[in-house]
Amino acid sequence: MLDLMSYPFEPYKVKILDSIKILSKNERTRALLQADYNLFKVPADKVTIDLLTDSGTSALSQEQFSQMMLGDESYASAKSWERLESSIKSFTGKKEIIPVHQGRAAEKIIAEVLLQKGDFAFSNGFFDTTRANFEHKGATCIDIPSEKSVDLSRPELFKGDIDLKKARQLIVHYRKHSKLVLMTLTNNIGGGQPASFKNIEAAHVLASKNDLKFIVDACRIAENSYFIWLNEQKRRGNVKSIIRKIFSLADIAFMSTKKDGLANSGGFIVTNDNNLAAQIKELVIMYEGYVTYGGMTGREMETIARGLQEVTDLTYLEHRINQIAYLHKELVQLGVPLLCPPGGHAVYVDATKLFSHVDKGNFPGQALAVALYQEGGIRSVEIGSLMHGGNSKNELVRLAIPRRTYTQSHLDYVVKIFKQVIRNKKRYKGFKIAWQSSTLRHFSCKLKPV
Ligand code: F0G
Repeated sequence: MLDLMSYPFEPYKVKILDSIKILSKNERTRALLQADYNLFKVPADKVTIDLLTDSGTSALSQEQFSQMMLGDESYASAKSWERLESSIKSFTGKKEIIPVHQGRAAEKIIAEVLLQKGDFAFSNGFFDTTRANFEHKGATCIDIPSEKSVDLSRPELFKGDIDLKKARQLIVHYRKHSKLVLMTLTNNIGGGQPASFKNIEAAHVLASKNDLKFIVDACRIAENSYFIWLNEQKRRGNVKSIIRKIFSLADIAFMSTKKDGLANSGGFIVTNDNNLAAQIKELVIMYEGYVTYGGMTGREMETIARGLQEVTDLTYLEHRINQIAYLHKELVQLGVPLLCPPGGHAVYVDATKLFSHVDKGNFPGQALAVALYQEGGIRSVEIGSLMHGGNSKNELVRLAIPRRTYTQSHLDYVVKIFKQVIRNKKRYKGFKIAWQSSTLRHFSCKLKPV
C-alpha cells in the first residue's frame, strides 16, 4: 500500500483536458488593475491555479459523464429524479428527499419554515449564506465554536466542535426564543475543521432535550466523516455508515452538492418528518421548481446521483485529505503561518502574521491574495476584514482545493510561488476601498493600493 501521507499519489488519470494559460507578470498586473484588485473580477482564463473555491469546481468522472447522457429532462417524475432520490436515500438514510438548486436555496427555505423574528440559532459556525438567510428572517445567529479553535496555530483534533457548555447557557438564557442548533460539517468559516461524532451527538441530545430542532449543514460531510473514521473510530467501520449515523441525528439536514456531491451544482434537504417535508415542498415549488427537480436539470441530477456514491470511496477520500495535508506540510516547512491542523477542503494562511507589515486597516489578507495572483496567477480568497468588516477576528487567506482537479505538481507550484511572495512581500502594502456595495462588499468592491 502506498504511503499516501508522504506522497499523495493521484488515484485518477487525465482524460479530458482543460488547458492552463500561463500569463506573464505584466499581463497579470494589467488584469489586476482592470479588476480593481478584486480577484472575483479577474477572468478565469487569466488564472493559473484557481483556489478561489472548492464549490462546483470538481472534475467529473467518466461514469458521471456517461450517466449524464441518460439525463431525463421530463418536467415531472423523471427517471433521473428516481435515480437521484434513491442515491440520496442510500447516502443519508432519510425518508423525505427534497431537491434544490444549491445550498443557499435550502437555507432560505429552512429559515422560512423554522424561524421567526426574535428567534435565536446556535452553531459551531454559520456559513455566510446560512447566516444571511436566517438573519433575513429576523433571527439572531450565534457562532459558538469550541475553545480549541481560538488559537489558530494549535494542531488540536476536531477544532470544528461546537462549545456545548456555552450552547447550554445560551439555550437557557434565551429560553423560548431559542429555536435551533446547527452543525456545519466541516466548519468552513472555522478553517474546514471537522467536528467529532461525540460532539455532534451531544449537540443533538442537547437540542432535543430542550425542544430545539437539530440541523446539519452536510455539504462536506464525507470529509468530516473521514476524519471521524481516522481519528475517533481508529479506522474501524466505514465512512458511509458514519455519514448515515450523523444524518440520523438531524431533524433536518441540507447539502450543497457542489462540494461533497462531486457535482458542479445542486443540493437537497432531507428529513423524516412528514409535516416539515410538506411545508418545505410547498416552498420548493414556489421558489425552485417542481419537487422532482428543484431547479436542477436531469443531467445535473445524474452527476449528483453518481457523485454521492464516489465520494465515500476510501481511496478517493485518503487522497483528498492527504492532498490538503501535503500542501499544508510543504507551506509549514517554508515558514508560512497556517491554521492548524490541516482541515478538509482548504489551507488557511494567517495573513496577520505573514503580512505583519500591512496595517490591519489596509487589508493584509487581500494584500496577500493579490500578491499570490501577481507573483504566480494563483487565485485565493480573503476571509478577513474585507469579507467580514472591521470586527473580523482573523485575517485569513483560503486556498481551497477543487476536488480531483489539480495534481501534486500544481501544489508544488503553489509552494514555489509562496517562496517568491515571501521574498517580495514588502512590495505589497495593502489597500483602501475606492467603492463598495451595501452588503457582501467583497464580491464587487473596487480597491486602490496604498
Ligand atoms: N454551507 C457551507 C458550509 C458552504 O461552504 C456553502 C458554500 C454553503 C452552505 C452554500 O452553498 O454555494 O451551494 O449555495 N460555500 C462556497 C465556498 C461558496 O466557497 O465555500 P451554495
